[in-house]
Amino acid sequence: MSDATTPEPPPKTTLTVTIDGRATEADPGELLIAHAEKVGTYIPRFCWHPRMREVGMCRMCLVEVDGPRGPSLQPACMLPVNEGMKVVTDSPTVKKAQDGVLEFLLVNHPLDCPVCDKGGECPLQDQTLSFGPGESRFVEEKRHYEKPISISDLVLLDRERCILCDRCTRFSKEVAGDPLIHFVNRGNRTEVNTFPDDPFSSYFSGNVVQICPVGALTASPYRFTARPWDLDQVESTCTSCAVGCRVVLQSSGDRVTRTQGVDSDAVNWGWLCDKGRFDFENIGSVDRLTNPKVRKAAGVAAQDATWFEALERAASVLRNTPAEQVGVIGGARLTNEDAYAWAKLLKGMLRIDNVDAQLGDGLSAQFIVGTPQATIGDIAGASAVILLSPDVKEELPVLFLRIRDAAHNKRVPMVELAPKATGLSRYVRQSLVYRSGEAGVAARALVAAVAGTPADRQIAGVEADLINSAAATISNALTSGKGNGNVVLVVGRTSLAETAQSIEDAAHVLLDAPFGASKKVLHACRRSNVRGAIDMGLAPGMLPGRVSLAQGLDWFSTEWGAVPMLPGKDTAAMLRAAANGELKALVLLGADPLTDFPDHVIAEAAFAAVPNIVAIDLFDTPSTDRASVVLPASGYAEKSGTVTNLEGRVSLATAKVSGPGVARPDWMIAVELANRLGHDLGFESVEDITAEIARVAPAYLTMTAATAGGNGALTPIAGAIDAANESLAATTAAEPDAHGTTSDVAEGGDTRLDDDADSVESVESVESPSVRTVPPLVTAAAPTLAVSVPQPDSYSLRLVVGHVLYDDGTLVSHSPSLAKLAPGDGLHLHPGEIERHGLSRGGQVNVVSQRTAVMLTVVENEAVARGSAFVPFGQVGGAAAALLDADELQASGIVKIRLETVAE
Ligand code: SF4
Ligand code: SF4
Ligand code: FES
Repeated sequence: MSDATTPEPPPKTTLTVTIDGRATEADPGELLIAHAEKVGTYIPRFCWHPRMREVGMCRMCLVEVDGPRGPSLQPACMLPVNEGMKVVTDSPTVKKAQDGVLEFLLVNHPLDCPVCDKGGECPLQDQTLSFGPGESRFVEEKRHYEKPISISDLVLLDRERCILCDRCTRFSKEVAGDPLIHFVNRGNRTEVNTFPDDPFSSYFSGNVVQICPVGALTASPYRFTARPWDLDQVESTCTSCAVGCRVVLQSSGDRVTRTQGVDSDAVNWGWLCDKGRFDFENIGSVDRLTNPKVRKAAGVAAQDATWFEALERAASVLRNTPAEQVGVIGGARLTNEDAYAWAKLLKGMLRIDNVDAQLGDGLSAQFIVGTPQATIGDIAGASAVILLSPDVKEELPVLFLRIRDAAHNKRVPMVELAPKATGLSRYVRQSLVYRSGEAGVAARALVAAVAGTPADRQIAGVEADLINSAAATISNALTSGKGNGNVVLVVGRTSLAETAQSIEDAAHVLLDAPFGASKKVLHACRRSNVRGAIDMGLAPGMLPGRVSLAQGLDWFSTEWGAVPMLPGKDTAAMLRAAANGELKALVLLGADPLTDFPDHVIAEAAFAAVPNIVAIDLFDTPSTDRASVVLPASGYAEKSGTVTNLEGRVSLATAKVSGPGVARPDWMIAVELANRLGHDLGFESVEDITAEIARVAPAYLTMTAATAGGNGALTPIAGAIDAANESLAATTAAEPDAHGTTSDVAEGGDTRLDDDADSVESVESVESPSVRTVPPLVTAAAPTLAVSVPQPDSYSLRLVVGHVLYDDGTLVSHSPSLAKLAPGDGLHLHPGEIERHGLSRGGQVNVVSQRTAVMLTVVENEAVARGSAFVPFGQVGGAAAALLDADELQASGIVKIRLETVAE
């Protein structure tokens, strides 16, 4: 008995479960099958999957569990552990049950293992061998079906192999929200199939292939390409978008043959989108650049050249062009190490700050790195989530799965602000579809309503009732106690026909709103490793490690010898300057502005005017076709390093196969160019660069390849900056002259700049502080909005432009299985607008903007609001980039179009 001086023992938080005579500690609520596996006892299973709800369909997991009436067979996947539970997984009774289950499954299974993709990695084979009977009593004829049938563009179904485990159907319904495959028929004729007129058109279809425990579902890009025992594999990170899903890259004969998802708790839970899963086809494409190319004279095509010739030519362009007349576009395709090497060359050696990894399609680097960072996991734990982002289902598909899970399964209250309904609209509590260009107006109305000033009229095209109920959703969520009042904002460029400033303004309105205990931003950056490129300094006004030029001046002057003194231009400004003759050289780091910059007229004018273009890329593109030097780079799966996803998580990207021809990693190209320009970057390997990043880039201090392994590590690493400052203070106290003096920089030797390389003031005279400190990370300020959006009129429509998953971009267009899925150009209109304009669905309409006209097919789309028109970006034909008028957008905050009917 306790008394006043003897504290009560803390309540027991674990349960004791005995498995095969061994006492184990289990967490309350754990399923027996998961707990047993955790403590080393594998219970066979087919239908159970740790990321889906248990259904108890297959009975393969039967075990004996002691109960009041003695031991009984129970499915371990349906049974939560409880205190004192006694379980036997290998008794004769269990064995007999397992024999029976497997014998029944094999009754109908065709046993065509020699020609089945799954043969050699098949749970049915493996578990029959480990747990099944030694022989079959079955002699009758098996079922026969037409095989295979195609249930989507990427997935084939061999129905007779199906063991009816319900994994694929549950995934489609529960996880993806695409309930397009079902069980049909009854009894012995039960089969998985699609609805007759409704194919399995899901962005996530490859996942059902991966989780099918037999070879019933196979992927057409992989079918019959390899046997599992031929495959060699490494873990890596998908860089087809900025989510950074963990993957296994499998190769056979130095060719990537398959990508499988890895269950990363922090990021993708084992799921991949079909783009990330199947765009490996571009890696081995015959169209890859294999050799450097140099244009020998104006007007002739660039021809194959040696690396020596090509690097000499590229170096001469950089040597002979003043820093302020060079523009560098791209970098999102690069690893962090590639990007750092280029940042050091460009900013530290050549003092060029006209550098931008984004192509006018994102938000400012300062906003991305300077607002409080949320993780993907924070979404499910938040009190409320406000989405002010592009359609994440189209642009960041696995992030869509995670947000959908939070909204749909975990009931996290969400409100969406968007200029067009998105894939998440059906899962959020309220979707406020505002008029393009008026994000800030809608955000202010929402914030005011939460604060007690309800909307009394339609605002920014959103009905007052909707704004008020969204405000009530947020208020109720914050007072519910769930999520501790934390609010997560998912923020990205909602439409390319809306300015970055408009979105940043709206985001700051929400961030500064007087509600919520804390607010953080999950940045819906889209392009590949764009977050890593920005973090490494490939953005105007930025230096590696999320510091600004101004605040990183002393630190990087000491480390590198010099930095640019003035912020440079972003991509839009660079292209305008090039078009005006102010830039004399463009360097393209895996960028194709002629295709990807959201205004073809400006991009074309820039390319027509700029005399020298150096392009580093994987493929010939419209932009490389205009280059005087083209350098072939190694791509994804051909080089190792680290990458940073949209939540600032650093993980490993791993080389699996050789690059084509004489292609080289981008960091090596930077090192070679530096040498030719009389500088030494000091790198001989990727590891050298990782180590330097960990030493000098403030947000990446102490980051190593080991830290970035597995699920990766969030930056900045907790305590690393403080520890560095303490260490610097101690060092400075002990050796006051040890760092930062002019003489130290000079002794570094190789980082001096040519006197005439730049008009910017040399930094060698900068006085170092007496105690050197790590520069502070950037904090974003709200932008100043200079434009006022014109009132809507009934003659024009506001343009909304966004990316869709499959486009005519470099990676998809060179992945044959995906290229055919791009929807193509089209003008998406609300049915009411189609009626109002007297158009016909599928008919042609002349779309007239301020400066051009394009003919497009009319597509009915209820996601588009009345008064707006949506055009997908980056499709064959390039209508969106032709219609997007950056000048009009800058001047008025919107792009207007009108429709002219075409005589049938
Ligand atoms: Fe299970 Fe595969 Fe059949 Fe789907 S097709 S029910 S995943 S065996
Ligand atoms: Fe790759 Fe992005 Fe798809 Fe994940 S969501 S598999 S990172 S493309
Ligand atoms: Fe338990 Fe299928 S795994 S019933």
